[in-house]
Amino acid sequence: MEKTNANEVDPIVQTRLETLVARHAQRLGAMLPILHEIQAEYGFIPSPAISVVAHALNVSRAEVYGVITFYADFRTEPPGRSIIQVCRGEACQAKGGCELEAYAKRSLGIDFHQTTPDHAVTLEPVFCLGNCACSPSVRVGEEVYGRVDAATFDELVAEAKANTEQKAPAADAALGARS
Ligand code: FES
Repeated sequence: MEKTNANEVDPIVQTRLETLVARHAQRLGAMLPILHEIQAEYGFIPSPAISVVAHALNVSRAEVYGVITFYADFRTEPPGRSIIQVCRGEACQAKGGCELEAYAKRSLGIDFHQTTPDHAVTLEPVFCLGNCACSPSVRVGEEVYGRVDAATFDELVAEAKANTEQKAPAADAALGARS
């Protein structure tokens, strides 16, 4: 089998990254919109993107990496097939959000910003989902759920897993997983 150099960037990925970056490169404060767009496409910021962004904006790779790690929204690893966000906003915390957060971590066996070993779920904190009247709230993918307790959380996780069982991790698919 032909070996792949770990540092080699798939030319399709490279071209796609350059296209995404070029779309914003001339804007003032281009780095954040560029990084958001890359993450929207791949689910995280793949490491080759750091060089592409640095080159386009004429900044150092360290500067790009610093921005990525400063903002909790950016991921540097591929997320699980489902992203589950537990609201840590005040309204939710006042209505059982802290207990729900603890339950979510315990039941999944992971902390915030981590992914289950089977790559099914990534758990993330979020600060208000605009659903305060129905606290505590959870978002699974694009859907927001209110008045979530431990039992509902389990149901949401089971549903998310069932819905995505056949799906390859988004990042692997987008980046073209290689064997
Ligand atoms: S504080 Fe949780 S939805 Fe607003």
